[in-house]
Amino acid sequence: MKLAPSILSADFAHLGDAVQAVERAGADWVHVDVMDGHFVPNLTFGPKMVADLHKATALPLDVHLMIERPDDWVDRYVEAGATYVVVHIEAVKDVRGTLARIRKRGARAGLTLNPETPVDAVIPFLSDIDLLLVMSVHPGFGGQKFIESALDKVRLVRRALDERKVSAELEVDGGIKLDNAARVAEAGASVLVAGSAVFEDPEGVEAAIAKFDRVLGRGA
Ligand code: DX5
Ligand code: ZN
Repeated sequence: MKLAPSILSADFAHLGDAVQAVERAGADWVHVDVMDGHFVPNLTFGPKMVADLHKATALPLDVHLMIERPDDWVDRYVEAGATYVVVHIEAVKDVRGTLARIRKRGARAGLTLNPETPVDAVIPFLSDIDLLLVMSVHPGFGGQKFIESALDKVRLVRRALDERKVSAELEVDGGIKLDNAARVAEAGASVLVAGSAVFEDPEGVEAAIAKFDRVLGRGA
């Protein structure tokens, strides 16, 4: 089980320190939420931030594109050093073409779906991806409540991946806390994103990650 802290809830004036803190604490990936103010109402950062984070940490960068016309932008995120480039099925025009393009440029291809989008929409693409991200909140903001019906989607995707013998990562993003992380893992997730639970823990980032390690049975 991998843990991918989302820097959306970190202090944007000190993002280099934030990624180094989660790296020291044993996080597996850094989840980078790119928002354009159109596909989602909120606005964050673009490819330069990904390039600068890539210099600041050795951890894989899991870049979640919540933007319109991701087809036009994936090259720039691959060049910036994204390990995974994750596009929304609701935004991408040529799903198979865009996933292939991400891989051809040298990154791993991810596909994600909003809470209201049925799992059926992504099933045809399971053999074209390295990662499937199930959204468990409506994208746009950190600190929202986990949508319970996402658990059924995780189970459905897990079954579909196993039936097809596809070894893609199954990631879940939104509202992951210490009290639901184990249930999401049991449903079949292989990567959990956690933003506010990591960066807003009053005991600090390292303590927060240690607590996730404990509830997920990770490490020593
Ligand atoms: C929501 C983002 C999430 C967010 C998760 O649009 O995609 O990655 O940062 O934050 P929490 O863990 O606070 O729900
Ligand atoms: Zn995200």
